[in-house]
Amino acid sequence: MLSAERIMQRCDALARHSELAGGLTRVFLSPQARAAAELVLGWMREAGMQAKLDAIGNCAARYEGQRPGLPCLMLGSHLDTVRDAGRYDGMLGVITAIECVSRLSSANRRLPFAIEVIGFGDEEGVRFGTTLLGSRAVAGTFDEKSLEARDQDGKAMREALREFGLPPERIPEVARKKGEVLAYAELHIEQGPVLESEGLPVGVVTAINGFSRLRATLRGAAGHAGTVPMNLRRDALAGAAECILAAESIARTDAELVGTVGRIEAKPGAINVIPGEVMFTIDVRAPKDSLREDAIARIVSQVRKISAERRLECTVENLQEFGVTACAPWLMEQMGRAVASRGFRVRRLPSGAGHDGMALGAIADICMLFVRCKGGVSHSPLESITEADAAAGATVLHDFIEHFRLPA
Ligand code: GLV
Ligand code: MN
Ligand code: MN
Repeated sequence: MLSAERIMQRCDALARHSELAGGLTRVFLSPQARAAAELVLGWMREAGMQAKLDAIGNCAARYEGQRPGLPCLMLGSHLDTVRDAGRYDGMLGVITAIECVSRLSSANRRLPFAIEVIGFGDEEGVRFGTTLLGSRAVAGTFDEKSLEARDQDGKAMREALREFGLPPERIPEVARKKGEVLAYAELHIEQGPVLESEGLPVGVVTAINGFSRLRATLRGAAGHAGTVPMNLRRDALAGAAECILAAESIARTDAELVGTVGRIEAKPGAINVIPGEVMFTIDVRAPKDSLREDAIARIVSQVRKISAERRLECTVENLQEFGVTACAPWLMEQMGRAVASRGFRVRRLPSGAGHDGMALGAIADICMLFVRCKGGVSHSPLESITEADAAAGATVLHDFIEHFRLPA
């Protein structure tokens, strides 16, 4: 039996592992991530899987097929969260996948392929600014340079991994080869309003929008807020404000484009001091790579122009970018059949949010199943789903797994 009640309870249980009292924040390689991983590894073993924490901090589990060592259908999602997050973004996909395997193992069923379930340690990129760390390690595209990225406290990822008990030099061993993974399938909440507006519990994803992440730093001159006349100032924060509005207006030029400045830090950060240095991030996404690349070029050129006009020094770093990832037609077809066989209309839709499948696309064809969420709200404590929709998602994923076949 698939138990949606148990899925919901497990999402609640994971949400208790948070650095934020009364809310949910769980970042990569934190004590809360360790506690969550221990719970998930326990559930994986209970479901009849071999499970371990790998060298990048993913919970990685395997359920053998009709013979040991067969290539796998990989299922998964992430276990880290944004700050003040909801409890379903990522976690629902991992827990539902475990539930599906549990049903197979309790019926003693083995399929003509193995199943691997991975709870990725980092997808959101909150701690080190660079995202999809767990899934890129599995896809063999982990960038060694990320080990030098530092968190807000100045700690390098390499050091954080060691403190967590993970050997950074073993990350390459996490990589899977092409052929070992037949396909990657991820169940995730929609994080948007389309399914709810059409009265549908689930939808089949067609593609994941590409993204770019940048960090801009503007340097002017700190000074006394009371004594420096306005015309002699080089205020980095006022300059950043102008840049942010310019980025917003560029992102508004196309209905398919979105742009966000989600983090800003002003130094020295006192009410009576002119800000001498400001750092802000820029996140741009689009369903077409050319549209995103063109927007980034225009934003960077505006940031440089505004800085020059205000006599500010400026550096813009490209933190990360990912092109659009298409879901494979043969997998969308099979997922669509699973949706239809449960009596739901098959709604295909793109994903505006990023997902681990973007990284897995380097070694396997991918597909995704979206589950309706209330008001389309996500990356917020208001994120919510119903138990009935969790059940619909679980049964569709289960049927998809059961009927999964490679194309002829
Ligand atoms: C991850 O949730 C992202 O889309 O940023
Ligand atoms: Mn997210
Ligand atoms: Mn997510």
